[in-house]
Amino acid sequence: MTAPLVDEETPLVQQRQQQPQPQMNKQDVYAKWSIIAGLALFVSLVISVLVRIPFNVFTYHPLFMTTFIVLVTEGISLLQPTSTEIEKKRGLRHHAIIQTTSYLSAICGFSFIFYNKVISGKHHFESFHGKMGLFVFIYLFVQLVFGVSMALLPKQIFGSVDKAKSTWKYHRVFGYILLLLVWITAQFGVRADYMYNNLYSPHLIWLHWVSLALVFGGLYSRIRFDKWGIIRQ
Ligand code: HEM
Repeated sequence: MTAPLVDEETPLVQQRQQQPQPQMNKQDVYAKWSIIAGLALFVSLVISVLVRIPFNVFTYHPLFMTTFIVLVTEGISLLQPTSTEIEKKRGLRHHAIIQTTSYLSAICGFSFIFYNKVISGKHHFESFHGKMGLFVFIYLFVQLVFGVSMALLPKQIFGSVDKAKSTWKYHRVFGYILLLLVWITAQFGVRADYMYNNLYSPHLIWLHWVSLALVFGGLYSRIRFDKWGIIRQ
């Protein structure tokens, strides 16, 4: 048996192996910061209204939904530039953790607004935002179950790992559609009377268009269309 190579120079705590970073070109880096800036603007606009209204059960709805939106957007953005097997594996792990956390935030946000309607004796899902929110909430559940089955139970549900991998493209396309619907729903939310009327100035609502442009411009430029099977490299 050969003795392990340990001497007085060996560090007591082993250095973690350098993890390879996803291959990001300059454009990806700008796009990443565009997304972060758009999210920061969105969060600031929502908070700027919440500080002007009394803190009550309703307040938890936009708070948790904003957390959900930030996480769900970042959880997609981080996967976009991954290309090698190691990057994809690591990206997938982070994606799964972030999207599960985002889903828990969405459950909280949904529960608070539902409970708020119950205690104030109002009807449910009357506004367009409320109806769309319900649809998005169900879509989110289906997307999560689909993703978890592909990643954790490929053999049991799809028959083999390769068959499961062949469905990734659907998860990707439906994921982008879902993200778009989430943002549209949120845009109706920030324009709901209670939020709009409590803006510092109604003109500030235009900043939401800026935040949308920054987020979707960034996301679009990070898309690798070759992963979609549309463009062959
Ligand atoms: C931060 C962004 C958001 C804000 C400021 C916001 C704001 C509001 C407001 C003011 C209401 C009460 C008025 C109404 O019923 O339309 C509401 C209800 C509702 N929201 Fe949001 N919302 C946001 C994001 C979301 C998202 C992303 C979803 C879905 C995933 C969602 C789902 C719902 C649902 C389902 C209702 C109705 C609940 C019921 O009728 O029992 N909201 N939201």
